[in-house]
Amino acid sequence: MSGSPGRREAGLPSPAALRRVSELRDSIARHDHLYHVLDAPEIADGEYDRLFAELVSLEATHPGLADPDSPTQRVGGAPVEGFSEVAHDVPMLSLANAFDEAGVAEFDRRVRDRLEIGEGEEVEYVAETKLDGIAVSLRYEGGRLAVAATRGDGTRGEDVTSNVRTIRSIPLRLRGAGVPASLEVRGEIYLPLDRFARLNEEQRERGEREFVNPRNAAAGGLRQLDPRETRSRRLMFFCHGAGDASGVPSAGTHLDLLRRLNEWGLRTSPDVRAIRGVDGCIAYYREIEARRPTLGYQIDGVVYKVNRLEDQRRLGAVSRAPRWALAHKFPAEEAVTRLLGIDIQVGRTGSLTPVARLEPVFVGGVTVTNATLHNQDEIERKDVRVGDRVVVRRAGDVIPQVLRVVDAERRNPEAPTFAMPSACPACGAPVVRVEGQAATRCTAGLGCPAQRKEAIRHFASRRAMDIEGIGEKLVDQLVETRLPGTETRLVGTVADLYRLNECRDEIVALDRMGELSTVNLLEAIEDSRGLPLPRFLYALGIPEVGEATAASLARHFGKLFRIREADEAALAEVRDVGPIVAGHVAAFFRDELNRSVVDDLMVAARPAPVPVERPEPEDEAAPLPLAGEVVVLTGALSAMTRDEARDRLLVLGARVTGSVSKRTTLVVCGENPGSKRDRAEALGIRTLDEADFLEFLEGT
Ligand code: IVH
Repeated sequence: MSGSPGRREAGLPSPAALRRVSELRDSIARHDHLYHVLDAPEIADGEYDRLFAELVSLEATHPGLADPDSPTQRVGGAPVEGFSEVAHDVPMLSLANAFDEAGVAEFDRRVRDRLEIGEGEEVEYVAETKLDGIAVSLRYEGGRLAVAATRGDGTRGEDVTSNVRTIRSIPLRLRGAGVPASLEVRGEIYLPLDRFARLNEEQRERGEREFVNPRNAAAGGLRQLDPRETRSRRLMFFCHGAGDASGVPSAGTHLDLLRRLNEWGLRTSPDVRAIRGVDGCIAYYREIEARRPTLGYQIDGVVYKVNRLEDQRRLGAVSRAPRWALAHKFPAEEAVTRLLGIDIQVGRTGSLTPVARLEPVFVGGVTVTNATLHNQDEIERKDVRVGDRVVVRRAGDVIPQVLRVVDAERRNPEAPTFAMPSACPACGAPVVRVEGQAATRCTAGLGCPAQRKEAIRHFASRRAMDIEGIGEKLVDQLVETRLPGTETRLVGTVADLYRLNECRDEIVALDRMGELSTVNLLEAIEDSRGLPLPRFLYALGIPEVGEATAASLARHFGKLFRIREADEAALAEVRDVGPIVAGHVAAFFRDELNRSVVDDLMVAARPAPVPVERPEPEDEAAPLPLAGEVVVLTGALSAMTRDEARDRLLVLGARVTGSVSKRTTLVVCGENPGSKRDRAEALGIRTLDEADFLEFLEGT
């Protein structure tokens, strides 16, 4: 036997080490609380990591200091074989549901009847968000997290303590004064949406199955046999009550209780609020519904709870739900229906989108008959086939989408897999799929009627030229309706919009149009003239050029013609414009058809000239021979250039314009006159071929 060993060799800590370890544990617990519960960190992540590393190292040198509640122990204990059962002292109830305002009013009436509250008075409720997560019960004994359990069947759940200990927003020890000797806290474990997205991205990269929704991912995370797996999911927690609040000092109301729990270090929702009566409930519901897309986590409704705990006790519970609480649910965002067919939609930039034709289904508060299937890859990944039963999701204003197939094994084994067509369904032009891109595109550009329609719709949209009244139906009609007796359409390109005032009668005759809506439409078109360059540029619908990029381009170049002539290198110098966008812009303006549309637009859509007061001529000169004539030149002339012809006409007093309108009095047609002649004929305007024109000039 050797002599008495020194403290250090025996692993016994010095008083200084002891103090430091306890300091570090307190400090880390405090920073965990600041970061995960209060969302108000005081130190940088690096500093936190240093404190943590110091504690890990001290605990390693002094095994005698081990403590299961040390923050280092959150990393998770050893994997388990399975979960043992936990009996809930107080059953974990569920909630009664309401799906509309009538249901809320009924709930309020029942509460008032039972509490004998008179007509003139309102019940005070606490309103909360209804988290779509996993219900858990956390038992704290002597302020320390002792047992965490899932809800299970309400009376017995699974012991998930080691996994729950890895969740940083759940304190291992409660802090502050007045913590009861025994306290059971209830709340919801959930996965924030950004983490869910990242998790699925990782699953994809690993070639593993994606999670269906954040709730499933959270449930799976919580039920991992290896706590380290749970930790890596980075789950979060909100508490919304206690199993039995009677042990909580000076808590007269549910709001008091939540405040207390929060003081002790438990994370409560920032959106909890006391409200009054049915009106208060409905106002809260609407507010949360509007904010739902920005919350960062999934909720499936709101919960109203009678605030006074004494009233809650008087009300009690029926079967599995308390009488003092109500879940006011949002319309379900997912539903199952049958895929009847797959249509192909051609977008503004020519991309072909497969669209699911569905058996009508009520989802997200509306009846849905179509949903996007995104692209060929997505259809293959989900292995969607016509006839399948599919899950459709419609959340907020987002377009409905097909999420997945249900019962794929029960489908007709003969059902063919989907293939993209090789020709554009709108115009028959060949389609291409660029290497490395998901989209299949029609190659016809503005030559494709579907792309034309989309281009016009985009051009007129609110954030572009803001032409009110140009909806989908009207665009279809404008693009499809021919001018009487011609092949010319009312609107072939966006520039034609500015000539529509000459087609008033044709517009009035369109379906769902009348005198008044026609006047309104034409006025809206007039009002859109002369909008600033960024809007105009955005309205052109150049692929990848959104409002911000349009504004940058406009700021950098100042004038449209400079952007038009800029090469890719010059374009890429613009702030926020990378080589891809630069390539799109350059390609757009290289395209012949686009160039001619923009040319045309520059003339047709420029602001109407402000009438200028002209001084009366001193003495009446003889009127010029072509005064009052409005002439359009089109096609190639052989005896002179168009500019020469134009000059001759101007000298003779004519006005020469670029486009045929009702004000046009004469159209001169050279070789290959194109649509302007059709338009002139449609409008009953006199046309002259070159020979007639030369004769006409002779005669003046
Ligand atoms: S109170 C006895 N409040 O919704 C009262 N529950 O559909 C029971 N839930 O099992 C719970 N957010 O898991 C309450 N703010 C909230 C809630 C909430 C989500 C869950 C809870 C419950 C389920 C009932």
